[in-house]
Amino acid sequence: MKDSVKDGAPLGIVVVGASGDLASRKIIPALFALYCQGLLPEQFNVFGMARTSFTHEAFRAHIAENLTCRYAPGESCADRTAEFLARCYYSAGQYGSADAYLDLYGIMRSIEGQGSVNRVYYMAVPPGVFLDVARALGDAGLIACDPRREWSRIVIEKPFGRDRATSDDLVREMHKVFTEESTYRIDHYLGKEIVQNLMVLRFANLVFEPLWNREFVESVRITWKEPFGVGQRGGYFDGYGIIRDVMQNHLLQILALLAMDRPTRFDANAVRDAKVRLLRAIPPVGLDDVVTAQYTAGAGKPGYTQEPTVPAESLTPTYAASVLRIENDRWRGVPFFVEAGKGLDAGLSEVRLRFRRPPGELFGNAAGPIEANELVIRVQPDEAIEMRIMNKVPGLKMALQPTPLNLRYQAAFNAQIPDAYECLLLDMLRGDRSLFIRADELEAAWDIFTPVLHALEANRTRPETYPLGSHGPKAADRLAAQCGLQR
Ligand code: BG6
Repeated sequence: MKDSVKDGAPLGIVVVGASGDLASRKIIPALFALYCQGLLPEQFNVFGMARTSFTHEAFRAHIAENLTCRYAPGESCADRTAEFLARCYYSAGQYGSADAYLDLYGIMRSIEGQGSVNRVYYMAVPPGVFLDVARALGDAGLIACDPRREWSRIVIEKPFGRDRATSDDLVREMHKVFTEESTYRIDHYLGKEIVQNLMVLRFANLVFEPLWNREFVESVRITWKEPFGVGQRGGYFDGYGIIRDVMQNHLLQILALLAMDRPTRFDANAVRDAKVRLLRAIPPVGLDDVVTAQYTAGAGKPGYTQEPTVPAESLTPTYAASVLRIENDRWRGVPFFVEAGKGLDAGLSEVRLRFRRPPGELFGNAAGPIEANELVIRVQPDEAIEMRIMNKVPGLKMALQPTPLNLRYQAAFNAQIPDAYECLLLDMLRGDRSLFIRADELEAAWDIFTPVLHALEANRTRPETYPLGSHGPKAADRLAAQCGLQR
């Protein structure tokens, strides 16, 4: 059951790392969007905390730069912005210092008064300080102990560790301060509209489910491309690489929703149980099933190892392709070709299910080949669901052609598509954990990639190369070909 938010108790949202990019580009604008739609409680305040020294006013000016009035257009925009900013406060301090949070608490209380207040602690900080922050919050006594009176929730965003062991450590240590029930682990792809639609598409339409298996599906391809390099994020990225940054989380989550069995109910635990069962049916990826690569200079831009924040001798992959297998009765033998890369020729996330070809050539050679049907689910840009089906080309002769049945979100739904963070923050405030990663899901996801990550690192595997702006390394074409796919 979802808690009501609007009529709920007063709320204090603490954004730790509030001076940083994630906070000012994503989290605070998402809170503003919820505020403009009347989805925050009457009494709420936002408290920013970071090491940078800001007055409340300077903090407000800093975050105002990214507030947009999508939900409060026209004249009300300035009013809503001013009302929202007036509820934003700031306190500077060291992340690991309990005293810093006691100072913050002093500010919170001077604004909120003494009644009970629900609290969110959003960790918009580098992963290396997650634990310091959690422990300091605990030492400062800021975590509510009796959720019947008031709750404290922590929101934490990937990367959760670097492999299975470090992820387990993080989970265990964080649990000393926050229970699993009060921990909201974000994978922001789960907040994307079309990713949420995957379950509806599969389980609210009779036509797909009977075909959703090895009998009818030949291969599944999940593609994630970004057209730019790591830029200023090289320092973070170099410690993780593309498999940890995108594949082990965003793409595996999409794959899990795409391939899992029907959950017994539409609730947080049943959906996550179904995902965990699916993830556990995927054996660890072997070295032969992976291609890694790194972008070199191209399109007038520097190569990865020439980026100012990246070590010149780095072996960190910016591209990876891998073939995953699912060892269950539904999918055994169907290759899932998953690829992710930065500095490629386009910005795109999409899923392609290729069905098997119908037997025989009923229409003869002159009509042209019958091509396999393909279902394309485009996550971004321009959200769409497309089914490529064979048709007769109009005219006096028999000629076949694949043509798309096309559902484009913009045209089909005359609605604003919310940002992923708006959706996730609202769910978190409602206490709905369906779209957040449970600890056992995290374990299962790490088990798939940990051995290959360790092997690549132990062997000091030199990644293949591809020029920035190209379609990626040739070796990935060969891996795709093994799955009967052309990249
Ligand atoms: C983040 C990754 O999780 O997702 C980034 O760390 C990546 O490397 C980003 O750029 C992409 O998110 P989106 O929503 O822009 O596709």
